[in-house]
Amino acid sequence: MRLSVLKETDAGETRVAIVPKSISKLKGIGFDVVVESGAGNAAAFLDSDYTDAGAAIASSAKEAMDGADVVVKINPPSEQDMTNLASGQIWISQLFHRLNPEQNKALADKGVSAFSLDAMPRISRAQSMDVLSSQSNLSGYKSVICGADHLGKIFPMLMTAAGTVTPAKVLIFGVGVAGLQAIATAKRLGAVVEATDVRPECKEQTESLGAKFITVEDDGVKTEGGYAKEVTSEYLAKQKEAVNKSLAQADLVITTALVQGAKAPVLISEDQINMMKNGSVIVDMAVAKGGNTALSKADEVVQHKGVKIVGVSNFPAQIPTNASELISRNIDTFLAHLVEDNAFTWDLEDEITHGTLITHSGGVRNQALLNKN
Ligand code: NAI
Repeated sequence: MRLSVLKETDAGETRVAIVPKSISKLKGIGFDVVVESGAGNAAAFLDSDYTDAGAAIASSAKEAMDGADVVVKINPPSEQDMTNLASGQIWISQLFHRLNPEQNKALADKGVSAFSLDAMPRISRAQSMDVLSSQSNLSGYKSVICGADHLGKIFPMLMTAAGTVTPAKVLIFGVGVAGLQAIATAKRLGAVVEATDVRPECKEQTESLGAKFITVEDDGVKTEGGYAKEVTSEYLAKQKEAVNKSLAQADLVITTALVQGAKAPVLISEDQINMMKNGSVIVDMAVAKGGNTALSKADEVVQHKGVKIVGVSNFPAQIPTNASELISRNIDTFLAHLVEDNAFTWDLEDEITHGTLITHSGGVRNQALLNKN
């Protein structure tokens, strides 16, 4: 089987789906790997690294895709990819299929079997294939570094001959994969950290990292498959009340709150930003999904009075070497799961295959998606 790795084409994307280290594993499960020339350059993986690892190089995306059995990319197919794709080929990338019904239909009409990496079920045996987790983990780290860089203060307490510097106060909204790593990173740098989440189980996780959890008293919170569901306006009002004292004292606020298949909840209003300290910084990690603050703008630094609101839509692209290494491991593990004796098994009863296979045999097959649309 031939597997082709495409160069990413989305603006600002620097990652690559497969790194040289994965090539021998892919060969071991039956793939000849072809990489589009320059695909790994921005992540510090050269064509020569891929050839040394046993891959071939194609001079263009079209050349890479012609005759491929499987085509792999991180981001959804571009218009050009859709033109290049042929019936019977297998496409693997993030598809954000709930938001892209037209793309799903186009892939099905082409006769392409498309797997969506972001549809990986949140079950233990899929953890090693979960690109959302691997990338969120790195993003959580980078969000703190980014915030520290924008702040006119340091994180740790320093006792010097010239006086004592008090530690920075960090407040984190959303204690999922990214939020937990942000807590750990801010603590390691010496900050005093508080965090809040709608899921009550986050309290113990937050406290185990040495941070304080802000509980919002409400029994109406629902979760589904480990994800938070949308909360009511009453909950949001109670949350505002619970966090406002901490918000007014925070030097750095990091927001990570997402709700699957919906816009990100607005957790910090303009009035709340107005009550924040001069010189404080908000890093909004949910900005690609609409943002967790009323004033966030994607890939901009908004200066509102004395507060900076930094909206970063693709943190992993700022750390492409590690981000690519982890995503590549996720994908090679996923492929090893899908393939046996040099062929795809198409075990549609398997929870992982069922959850991720969006189009197959000329149709859009993901039942949850069919029900939703
Ligand atoms: P996410 O990226 O979808 O959301 C981030 C966080 O925002 C979540 O903790 C969520 O509860 C929180 N949030 C949503 N609305 C909020 C609101 N109004 N106010 C405050 N916080 C709000 O979540 P992520 O990081 O992908 O993880 C979700 C869950 O799935 C976690 O329990 C995680 O441990 C679990 N998980 C399980 C995996 C597995 O078993 N394979 C893999 C990855 C995560």
